[in-house]
Amino acid sequence: MLVATASISLLGLAAAHVGCSGHNIARRNVGGEHNVIHDKRQVDTNNVDVAAQCAPYSYAPMANSKAKYPAIWVQPATLVAGDSEAAALFATINATVQQKVPHSNSPHGTPKGDWTGANYPTGDPDCWWTQSRCTTPAAELGIPSDITNLPEPETWGLGFDDGPNCSHNALYNFLAENNQKASMFFIGSNVIDWPVQAIRAKDDGHHICVHTWSHPYMTALTNEQVFAELYYTRQVIKEVIGVTPTCWRPPFGDVDNRVRVIAAGLNLTNVLWKNDTFDWSVGTNNVTVADVTNNYQKIITAAGQGQYATQGLTVLNHEVNNFTMQEFIDQYPSIKGAFKHIVPISAAMNWTHPYVEQNYTFQDFNAYIGSPDAASASGGASGTAAGAGASSAAKSSDKPKSAAGVLRPAGAVLAGALAAALLL
Ligand SMILES: *[C@@H]1O[C@H](CO)[C@@H](O)[C@H](O)[C@H]1NC(C)=O
Ligand SMILES: *[C@@H]1O[C@H](CO)[C@@H](O)[C@H](O)[C@H]1NC(C)=O
Ligand SMILES: *[C@@H]1O[C@H](CO)[C@@H](O)[C@H](O)[C@H]1NC(C)=O
Ligand SMILES: *[C@@H]1O[C@H](CO)[C@@H](O)[C@H](O)[C@H]1NC(C)=O
Ligand SMILES: *[C@@H]1O[C@H](CO)[C@@H](O)[C@H](O)[C@H]1NC(C)=O
Ligand SMILES: *[C@@H]1O[C@H](CO)[C@@H](O)[C@H](O)[C@H]1NC(C)=O
Ligand SMILES: *[C@@H]1O[C@H](CO)[C@@H](O)[C@H](O)[C@H]1NC(C)=O
Ligand SMILES: *[C@@H]1O[C@H](CO)[C@@H](O)[C@H](O)[C@H]1NC(C)=O
Ligand SMILES: [Zn+2]
Repeated sequence: MLVATASISLLGLAAAHVGCSGHNIARRNVGGEHNVIHDKRQVDTNNVDVAAQCAPYSYAPMANSKAKYPAIWVQPATLVAGDSEAAALFATINATVQQKVPHSNSPHGTPKGDWTGANYPTGDPDCWWTQSRCTTPAAELGIPSDITNLPEPETWGLGFDDGPNCSHNALYNFLAENNQKASMFFIGSNVIDWPVQAIRAKDDGHHICVHTWSHPYMTALTNEQVFAELYYTRQVIKEVIGVTPTCWRPPFGDVDNRVRVIAAGLNLTNVLWKNDTFDWSVGTNNVTVADVTNNYQKIITAAGQGQYATQGLTVLNHEVNNFTMQEFIDQYPSIKGAFKHIVPISAAMNWTHPYVEQNYTFQDFNAYIGSPDAASASGGASGTAAGAGASSAAKSSDKPKSAAGVLRPAGAVLAGALAAALLL
């Protein structure tokens, strides 16, 4: 059969730079010369010095666990030898792939995201976002659309990719002070490297999703590699943080039906994005800070012009380095001025139980925004273990707290006693 092929060299080029870059996200915690054993949250969350926060440490609860996971930051993840539980689940999901997408049973992309010369049918049989921006797989697949727009008008769906970043205290403190929750798309290699930072996200009441193990182009991988990237990230989040996520985001947005079927087999819903701040791209291809500020401004201006009067949008932000975090902090007042609501994806979608563990309850949209219509049953993130995280979640609204009303994360209480002696 002769299929028309799209001229995709341009798209391919763009795709290499679209979304969530893998640049500079591989800072390692080598367990360091300090050899500090953290057997509880000995963290000074007030310390915003990058070097101090990123000083290597060892984390006792994970000391004997690393062998259960793929090598950190090695692309792509594969099944760990001897992991029969993972292998059995993969075999089941792999069979589903054969059954559901028999025509799309092999990788589309390439590991570097450069698909120049790839012949891909213009008909887009596999809903390959990277090629066509397709977000709605055919109905017979039984997989819901990727999340891009949000049902609630004038709403900014807030999410940060690529964390946990070792130096995220200033950002997380800022979010806590503003009573602002976000969805955090965590990289498995970062979670195992920086477990204490990962745990803070839960303690602060944020909504945690999967963002793969090693940040590869997912459509370039075999079924087994796709599975391993998602499975072990889900697994390490469960082991380190204690919750099992039900959402994920593909690095670079690179997703197609084959990848969606495997993710769905792990009960992971694809949260894509509508607009990208391209905050990660400063320094690549001459992109400047002013360019990124302008990207924010375009969204803010569009909001002022009523572009989101009927629906909100998911925006892509990164927890990848000092600039991406600080730029969000700097832009926050303008976003707040232009949008009615800034909410985590859990609230935007009314996901009141965003984890497999049903004892974690998050706020639905009305509860999050503090609407009087809020159903009383959907109160705070009552499941968040740390007291401060839970209570700030319960009181959450998207109105900023005055300086006097600042809520401190749990770790800050510890800080006074432990700050001087400890590393983070
Ligand atoms: C998974 O599916 C692929 C593609 O059909 C097949 O080659 C492979 O053998 C399968 N692997 C397992 C473990 O079933
Ligand atoms: C997905 O969710 C279903 C329904 O709750 C459950 O039976 C199944 O075990 C889950 N699958 C995985 C891989 O967690
Ligand atoms: C970056 O700017 C320099 C100087 O203007 C120019 O020579 C170069 O081609 C630009 N690079 C890219 C990737 O645009
Ligand atoms: C948002 O992204 C869409 C493509 O998804 C683009 O057409 C639009 O111009 C962007 N809006 C802003 C305000 O940047
Ligand atoms: C975290 O941010 C710091 C500061 O910008 C940066 O040096 C480091 O590489 C980042 N680490 C990770 C794991 O992304
Ligand atoms: C970025 O680095 C500066 C200088 O070290 C620091 O003051 C600021 O708090 C950092 N911002 C974030 C968001 O980490
Ligand atoms: C969330 O719940 C509110 C209140 O019941 C409802 O109006 C809204 O449509 C729901 N949103 C979604 C995405 O289901
Ligand atoms: C939820 O249940 C799990 C398993 O019993 C338990 O370990 C965890 O502490 C509980 N969390 C909360 C916040 O209730
Ligand atoms: Zn990313």
